[in-house]
Amino acid sequence: MTTSHNYDPSPEFVRQAHVQGMEGYRELYRHAEQDPEGFWGEVAAREVHWFEPWSKVLEWNPPFAKWFVGAKTNVSYNCLDRHAASHRKNKAAIIWEGEPGDQRTLTYQELHRLVSRFANVLKAQGYQAGDRAIIYMPMIPEFPVAMLACARLGITHSVVFGGFSAEALKARILDLGATLVITADGGWRRGKEVKLKAAVDEAITECPDVRSVIVYRRTGSDVAMQEGRDHWWHALDQGVSEECPAVHLDSEHPLYVLYTSGTTGKPKGILHTTGGYLTQVTAAMKWIFDLKDSDTFWCAADIGWVTGHSYIVYGPLSAGATTVIYEGTPDYPQYDVWWRLVEKHRVNIMYTSPTAIRALIRQGDSWPDKHDLSSLRLLGSVGEPINPTAWEWYHRVIGKGRCPIVDTWWQTETGSAMIAPMPGAVPLKPGSGTFPLPGVAPDIVDFNGFPVGPDREGFLILRRPWPAMTRGIWGDPERFKEQYWTKVPGAYFTGDAARCDQDGYYWVLGRVDDVMNVSGHRLSTMEVESALVKHPSVAEAAVVGKPHEITGQAVCAFVTLKKGEHDQEKLGKDLRQWVAHEIGAFARPEEIRFTDALPKTRSGKIMRRLLREIVTSKTVTGDVTTLEDLGVVTQLAAQQDEE
Ligand code: PRX
Repeated sequence: MTTSHNYDPSPEFVRQAHVQGMEGYRELYRHAEQDPEGFWGEVAAREVHWFEPWSKVLEWNPPFAKWFVGAKTNVSYNCLDRHAASHRKNKAAIIWEGEPGDQRTLTYQELHRLVSRFANVLKAQGYQAGDRAIIYMPMIPEFPVAMLACARLGITHSVVFGGFSAEALKARILDLGATLVITADGGWRRGKEVKLKAAVDEAITECPDVRSVIVYRRTGSDVAMQEGRDHWWHALDQGVSEECPAVHLDSEHPLYVLYTSGTTGKPKGILHTTGGYLTQVTAAMKWIFDLKDSDTFWCAADIGWVTGHSYIVYGPLSAGATTVIYEGTPDYPQYDVWWRLVEKHRVNIMYTSPTAIRALIRQGDSWPDKHDLSSLRLLGSVGEPINPTAWEWYHRVIGKGRCPIVDTWWQTETGSAMIAPMPGAVPLKPGSGTFPLPGVAPDIVDFNGFPVGPDREGFLILRRPWPAMTRGIWGDPERFKEQYWTKVPGAYFTGDAARCDQDGYYWVLGRVDDVMNVSGHRLSTMEVESALVKHPSVAEAAVVGKPHEITGQAVCAFVTLKKGEHDQEKLGKDLRQWVAHEIGAFARPEEIRFTDALPKTRSGKIMRRLLREIVTSKTVTGDVTTLEDLGVVTQLAAQQDEE
């Protein structure tokens, strides 16, 4: 996988970069290693406005960390007030385009006003610091407005990606104990309306604690409004004051909870707090994206995932950048929609996923070639390993050989990028996230926690706490300890396999647990299995990730049916739809295979490893001595050969 071709940053890029040359990177990294707390203290003082100082940088009671102990700050203040009171007041904070072609540009002053007004609306509804809100919105400016208004008051928000179903939404509302839901009538996706309010209505029939639902009118379609509970955003916004001071919050105040898939059927609410998170995501804007005041930055993710939280909303706005938000998908109405936006808004930095890149490669070079992409100076990749072919295409066809590509490895739990190149410093190797950022201490270890050394595959761990790290799983400290901190004592277990080459470059290879990565989105095999076995015809289900040319992995489900007559073709379709209803359309299995039995150990545990081998290599080579019935595997492997 290590390619012979390294890509050095051009002298022009180096000259203007925040961190210049390998020596620049090494010096910064060394400085952080010698005194991590001193280092993060300096970064925090430089990047963030604090109302009150900390008494201690870090209090570490493994695995629970407190960063900037006793300090007071506010994320919304840092993203808005400090810029609105500076030379940036009339700078575009958000450049937004809707899928139908509507456009809005909000300056820092304008965004500040909108957020203050909406925070006053929330106050008038009786919400305050400590309350919890669910945000279920399309990609419109009011999405970050809602997040920033919550952050302004200390209302902990949990964004639920608009692609999640009513069932998934309900589970999150209940787990969080949310009393407020902020949504819209709908949003646009490939010319069709995604009906969000209808899903909220379905979800909250069993959520008695939700007192208010605030609905932004986006599509104008008919929605049911329940008297007393549901309110139109525009109605509440009438005559509201534009003054709303940001609450001075503790550095450890819970900013948000973002649910992600784990290794069980139940999603985990990953908790992020205020001061440490803000410090690290803001610093990353300069380190990884080499951000300058003149840059227009576009992270083409959905705000519903952590990438959108950290690099569409909080990171760019805290750093005073112009952040681009687009409502639609890269393939609608045509495959050049992204490149049209890059040309139109003169985007300088673009950040996306390998899945999107691979999907666009398939459509050919003529789409990007139609547009002037000369404004681009830096490209980024996130969410999954990028294969060198996709990397080279991105570099050549989009970056015209001129733009460094920052391949950023991180997770919902890490909050901010952890292994990623500083583009003016590090020669790139396609497919490698290169080196850890300053203050980040990764290692690659074996089953017993011993370092495996260069060029050997092992488990990726992080040896030291970092400011943007998750503070735990909402309501479940035991699961947090068990899943992340017991595998290698004293270290954070990422769940990823990786290798470090002779030059010290990190290569992240993929998950080692029962988590799939489909289009850069994490999905648990168990979650899909739990959804499938709820179907009245299904007896048992086992789900594995199958290699997929575009999406990295695709969901492949092995299903055994209850006794009776079944129309398998129809049932296959029904089950795919069923999963979409239970979780969301993005979790819909690409393939359902009906089988008479599943491979199990003598103690009855499904051997998913064997199924993974069958879909990946079409054979089974590993140990099968614990298998109860070898015939099952032979049958499944034969089925595969027939395809
Ligand atoms: O397996 C790694 C993969 O995505 C996982 C984290 O998923 P999630 O929490 O949804 O966050 C995605 C966006 C940060 C990781 O455990 N992953 C993420 N970035 C990379 C990656 N794998 C390889 N290279 C990356 N750059």
